Amino acid sequence: MLSYRHAYHAGNFADVMKHVVLTAILRYLAKKDAALCYVDTHAGAGMYKLDSTYARKNAEHNEGIARLWQATDAPAPVADYLGLVRRLNIGSELKLYPGSPWFAAQILRPADRMMLCELHGSDISLLETQFATDRRAHCYQENGYQFAQSLLPPRERRGLIFMDPSYELRGEYETAVSSIAAMHRRFATGVYALWYPVLNEHQPGTIEKLFAETGVRKVLHLALRVAARSPQSGMYGCGVIVINPPWTLREEMSLALPWLAEALALDASASFLVEQWADE
Ligand SMILES: C[S@@+](CC[C@H](N)C(=O)[O-])C[C@H]1O[C@@H](n2cnc3c(N)ncnc32)[C@H](O)[C@@H]1O
Repeated sequence: MLSYRHAYHAGNFADVMKHVVLTAILRYLAKKDAALCYVDTHAGAGMYKLDSTYARKNAEHNEGIARLWQATDAPAPVADYLGLVRRLNIGSELKLYPGSPWFAAQILRPADRMMLCELHGSDISLLETQFATDRRAHCYQENGYQFAQSLLPPRERRGLIFMDPSYELRGEYETAVSSIAAMHRRFATGVYALWYPVLNEHQPGTIEKLFAETGVRKVLHLALRVAARSPQSGMYGCGVIVINPPWTLREEMSLALPWLAEALALDASASFLVEQWADE
């Protein structure tokens, strides 16, 4: 039974970070004319109203997108992402925050495909409604860890697999990493991005160890912390692990993450990381 609803968290600092990375990867892939396939293993509802009862409960977007909303000095990858969010929010008020499939839909071209997996009954309905008239989009109420494997390799032989789990279940870090490794065996040239939250000091090391055990090479690790760990703080950082990153991504994130760390800081210990985990 899934209890996680992304509507409670939409637009928080973790969404900002993961969507900046997502936007930068897709922009790079879309530069080449050849069609590409975007696979979103945990797509969510696709769009979130920031004045809904869910979003207002903890108002996490206040420490996320709302902090950047007025920024005029953002580095290029963040400015690009902000431009997309502004395009959605006609007028000067921030009312809507988009999900990962929406960002992808803005960047993909007519010949590209979007394969969107979402297990939650309410969220898949919202997703299907949002993309009902978009012929590029295919929505599946399936377990993304397994179902996405059956979609690979895509006929386009180019693409991004974006995995953004809710990590509700015991052993889900292991499941996520082994699923990515299985997909990589089927489609070794694909780009993969796995998001993870930082809830304690051991987590980054645990996920790094799991990744090292897969033997997958060409791994770029991006991380952002907005505060020091405290017993009440819950999630205080997050990371995105990118396999086969575009060659431009390291430099782009070296500009974007320090700016985000400053803009999203909750205390003086906010920090970022851009590091290679495994190379050729
Ligand atoms: C963090 S949210 C995704 C947010 C979305 N990627 C975005 O950036 O807007 C995780 C989503 O995964 C869904 N979910 C959980 N387990 C799943 C599974 N095994 N397969 C597919 N979806 C799953 C949850 O219902 C939730 O909507």
